[in-house]
Amino acid sequence: MVSTLEQLNAAGDDAAAAMLDNLYAQSPWVARQTLQARPFRSLAQLQHQLRHVVDRADPDTRLALIRAQPELADVTDFTPDALTRLQQLRAHYSDRFGFPFVLAGRDPRGVPLTPQQIIDELVRRLDNPADVEHQEALRSIHRIAEIRLGGDFGIDLSTGNDIWDWHEALSQHSDPGYAEKGQLTVTYLTDAHRACAQRISQWMRECGFDEVGIDAVGNVVGRYRADRADAPTLMTGSHYDTVRNAGKYDGRLGIFVPMACVRELHRQGQRLPYHLEVIGFAEEEGQRYRATFLGSGALIGDFKSEWLDQKDAQGITLRDAMQHAGLRIDDIPALRRDASRYLGFIEVHIEQGPVLFEMGLPLGVVTSINGSVRYMVQIFGMACHAGTTPMDRRRDAATATAELALYVERRAAQDGDSVGTIGMLEVPNGSINVVPGECRFSLDLRAPSDPQRDALVNDVLAELAAICQRRGLRYTLEETMRAAAAPSDPAWQLRWERAVDALGVPLYRMPSGAGHDAMKLHEVMPQAMLFVRGQNAGISHNPRESTTSDDIQLAAFAMQRLLDDLANDTPH
Ligand code: GLV
Ligand code: MN
Ligand code: MN
Repeated sequence: MVSTLEQLNAAGDDAAAAMLDNLYAQSPWVARQTLQARPFRSLAQLQHQLRHVVDRADPDTRLALIRAQPELADVTDFTPDALTRLQQLRAHYSDRFGFPFVLAGRDPRGVPLTPQQIIDELVRRLDNPADVEHQEALRSIHRIAEIRLGGDFGIDLSTGNDIWDWHEALSQHSDPGYAEKGQLTVTYLTDAHRACAQRISQWMRECGFDEVGIDAVGNVVGRYRADRADAPTLMTGSHYDTVRNAGKYDGRLGIFVPMACVRELHRQGQRLPYHLEVIGFAEEEGQRYRATFLGSGALIGDFKSEWLDQKDAQGITLRDAMQHAGLRIDDIPALRRDASRYLGFIEVHIEQGPVLFEMGLPLGVVTSINGSVRYMVQIFGMACHAGTTPMDRRRDAATATAELALYVERRAAQDGDSVGTIGMLEVPNGSINVVPGECRFSLDLRAPSDPQRDALVNDVLAELAAICQRRGLRYTLEETMRAAAAPSDPAWQLRWERAVDALGVPLYRMPSGAGHDAMKLHEVMPQAMLFVRGQNAGISHNPRESTTSDDIQLAAFAMQRLLDDLANDTPH
């Protein structure tokens, strides 16, 4: 029989404990202590409290909780060989960590794991340091409880599952060289990228958008019209391009969540007092060309014609790639939006970090986005014989770069909340027996405020100059991106906060270390973002990036709520 939160809140202590008894095997104290915080406004709040109770238990009690978990029960699909392997690995696991292997038997969408997935997970976790695995085991226990709670309380996850499925389907498109390896890579205007745009357009039409099109930079633009033609517009969206060997949710979540909202509005035959423009931005990651934010930048008139001469790794210019894709370069200036006709911009994004995951919170409201600057750097020294050139006569471009990389690490760490990364690094035409005469690398520097970022940049560039001077090297520097820190607009941040609170989800505010399309729109209109918890400790720019359909659904409900509240606030 399905329980309700009202029943749980109203029941006597024993009856209420019995309703939660199933969640944490042989550990009734978790439910008992949790119930002291009744009444609960939502299952999300109840789950947060369950975690809180476990987190504040003493270490021995937590260990006993892990030890009390039964071995994975359902092994019916295992072949005899797979079962033998599972048993060996499990024995190895409990010898290594001193507790049984605990795993939620379902994936983030709630689909049962295959034997191979279970074995792969066990193998991966055997590599964890003991303290990390202790945390993973506890999180698996909480996820098992979440799945059971959803079942016991009859949660309908169809919205979250549909959004999850769109991600899965879109991830079938990947660039050559990666697709063959089962990796997801979608860079600007490749065939896979254009196929993504077509798929998103088609889904938008099916959702009931009134107008769907692909604009002159490749953005997919869907409009759901207001109840009157001269109404203002709310813009939302995120990007559909990816980094190399990416996760499936970065960017795309911010397209699919509002798509699901429009589908719901359309199903209900409901019109809003504002137009809703949902944009799948064509490019945000800066992978194929040095220029970045090509999609959202074009909407604020920030597309520079000199970018058209930039070349990708194959020597194809941006101009040629755009022409090949059938995009009309001459139409780009007309993409610029008249900000006075817009209410603002909102964006949903996977957090891409560990904060919500560690706190056991499904959603977070963004307070600001860190500012960033990117450069491509070339250092020139002298290529010469690696066997005959004495160490004190070398002009080695790679060791200079190594020196700079260590400086960047030290200098960024000094601020506490600045970050600096050399993510691309090569010795072009290098050989094993040649002292590097050239080194090319990228520099990505970020900080929560522009002055802090600029101080970091100044120090790093001064160090680059000093290193090259000392080592007798020459360098060139090309700034490829500069984005100002983007504090959320207070009124729009408050709208997200109200929407999250209305779902009974504990409110958590946090800054964004990652860059987002919202930074570009920020230059012309108010913006605020909502973060969704990532699984696997929030890892991102990695194929292990993941999120559950439970959390996705909460994000969709929060957006629906925000849209409704905004409708009530907007004059009809
Ligand atoms: C975008 O993903 C970024 O680099 O922050
Ligand atoms: Mn990204
Ligand atoms: Mn992103």
